[in-house]
Amino acid sequence: MRVLILPDPAAAAERAAGLIAERLRRQPRTVLGLATGGTMEALYARLIAHHRAGDVSFAAARSFNLDEYVGLSPDHPASYWRYMRAHLFDHVDFAPGATLLPHGDTGDARAEADRYEAEIVRAGDIGLQLLGLGANGHIGFNEPTSSLSSLTRVKTLTHSTREANARFFDDPADVPRHAITMGIGTILRAQEVLLLAHGTGKAVAAAQMIEGPLSAACPASALQLHRHATVVLDETAAAKLSLRDYYEAVHPSGCDAEI
Ligand code: GLP
Repeated sequence: MRVLILPDPAAAAERAAGLIAERLRRQPRTVLGLATGGTMEALYARLIAHHRAGDVSFAAARSFNLDEYVGLSPDHPASYWRYMRAHLFDHVDFAPGATLLPHGDTGDARAEADRYEAEIVRAGDIGLQLLGLGANGHIGFNEPTSSLSSLTRVKTLTHSTREANARFFDDPADVPRHAITMGIGTILRAQEVLLLAHGTGKAVAAAQMIEGPLSAACPASALQLHRHATVVLDETAAAKLSLRDYYEAVHPSGCDAEI
């Protein structure tokens, strides 16, 4: 796992955006796996800035988002469809129809999850998968005790995850109890994985993910199995790492390693 520690959240978002832009320049037809959540807002703002500066184009790329709440239509203000349009899709040059998310409102969420997994397989799997980190160690909506080889399916959200996401809803009681999420196995099939996290609230989960045992108790620890996983943290999210000096020696200030 490549661990990059940046001084603050803005620098971490810029570093992660730079890695995505670099991949798209190298392989414009990349299938991106995209994430939602507060952490991604600054990263998407930086990607939009790179696009406006002419540094990056999404015209040949495609994307699959990680997850969507069961029961929410694409037009619901708190849906991830709406989030993605507001924070990225309406501001860059993806081709029409090239950006996909699960549909939360089909009435048969299990069938929709199976269809979405098949669609990812048909696309040849994800090239670069972007991830955030839940305070309880979840990735996508793979809550603790998720199978480490799970595929896209319906998951019941934990109380703490519903509380953490209540800020995006008018009433905390409106936060759905279920979501369709790519599985950990789906995520591990991606060619590259890039996780971005910042803030003290993520420090324990980040340490468990990077240095803890491989365990379904911390779904993000499954990234230890991935050959090309990069984790970008700010100082506060890195605060509980015990091998901090090592990461800093290999990647001073989050820079690429010199060999
Ligand atoms: C939600 C999303 C995750 C995201 C997490 C962290 O649960 N399903 O993909 O990583 O929130 O969100 P935030 O960045 O707001 O802390």
